[in-house]
Amino acid sequence: MPYEPPEDFMRALHDLLGRVPTPFYAYDLRRIEERTRRYLEAFPTARVFYALKANPRLRLLERLRSQGLGAEAVSLGEVVRAYVAGFMPDEVVLNGPVKPPEVLGELARSGVPTLVADSRADLERIAQRLPEARVLLRLNPDLPVDTHPHLATGRGDSQFGVLPEDWPDVFARGRELGLEMRGLHVHLGSNLHNPADFAARLEVLQRLRERVGPLEVLDLGGGFGLDLDPRDLAPGMFALARAYGAELWIEPGRALVADAGVLVARVWAEKRTRRRYLLLDAGMTAFLRPLLYGARHPVRPLYASERTAVYDLAGPACESGDVLARDVELPVPREGDAVAFLEAGAYGEAMHLDYLDHPRPGAYAWDGARWEVWRRPGRLPALWEDEPDRAEYL
Ligand code: LLP
Repeated sequence: MPYEPPEDFMRALHDLLGRVPTPFYAYDLRRIEERTRRYLEAFPTARVFYALKANPRLRLLERLRSQGLGAEAVSLGEVVRAYVAGFMPDEVVLNGPVKPPEVLGELARSGVPTLVADSRADLERIAQRLPEARVLLRLNPDLPVDTHPHLATGRGDSQFGVLPEDWPDVFARGRELGLEMRGLHVHLGSNLHNPADFAARLEVLQRLRERVGPLEVLDLGGGFGLDLDPRDLAPGMFALARAYGAELWIEPGRALVADAGVLVARVWAEKRTRRRYLLLDAGMTAFLRPLLYGARHPVRPLYASERTAVYDLAGPACESGDVLARDVELPVPREGDAVAFLEAGAYGEAMHLDYLDHPRPGAYAWDGARWEVWRRPGRLPALWEDEPDRAEYL
């Protein structure tokens, strides 16, 4: 069953609808704090790094930092964003398969986070450019996991990490290069809902331990699906970290923010082709998950009417894939009525596309009394402000 946002939040959404343009994203701060607490309580002695790709709004980062979290980043931009939000370099972990020399150079200037090396080449480049860095080496556990194929990063055929048979040698190479090799990183994938996937990883890592010896850090990444209870997973993860003599780190993203957020869109027409559509002002460019992963997000009406019907909800793009939900039973709307897509707080707003020149949705957070602006709605001119309006040559 999806988490239902509380009534006062839904009422506040109504009020917000009259004040800001649609589509927009709205978040319930209280829910984010509650989810974060739940993770902090389940992992009391671990370091928790929020994967800020899930939702990188600065105001959110500042709050999570004040709850004691670090930040997990996957680009120079995300690292700098974390610094802007107040995180210190030793509170930030940088992942990612590619760290070009310019990025390492920029980090030398702005502050060096913990780096997760993804390959031997990555290690060599880090040793050359940032010899003082603290480094984890990413393991590819070679495990299939039960999620969408785009999200299964720990499969042996994915581009991430170093396979178990190569990991000890590559780690030793890091030490040879004089790097401060602190430990191991492994991220199975995202939107995991099967505890068996976590158990399988424990086994791989138990086996590897005999060849690796003690480590300072064991970073087990993120991936926690919304339905998983962190209290079920934490004991195995702590036991593993103890076996390595290591401190446990985790990197949840979705689990902290997804069900606190909704996308609100207005219905501008009802239309029949061979199917029955509601046409909305939000589609794939505002919310990519349904198209990219076949994700199903529950829909709630922000209006009432006597009759209901079953609709497909389509966006304004010129692509037939621009459908945010199918076969949804809803009250029959009037023009301008609004709907909310639930569980849109992670990887929703963050994955907005400029494609088709729709201004970016605004973002607002409800603290129980007031709406705080997290991001003002995008403006049209911002979409072309980097384009010369007369010939410019290099
Ligand atoms: N750590 C690493 C190294 C990651 O690559 C990710 C996510 C996380 C942590 C956080 O994973 P989470 O706890 O949020 O599952 N756009 C996709 C999700 C992509 C996740 C990428 N990496 C979606 O909309 O489902």
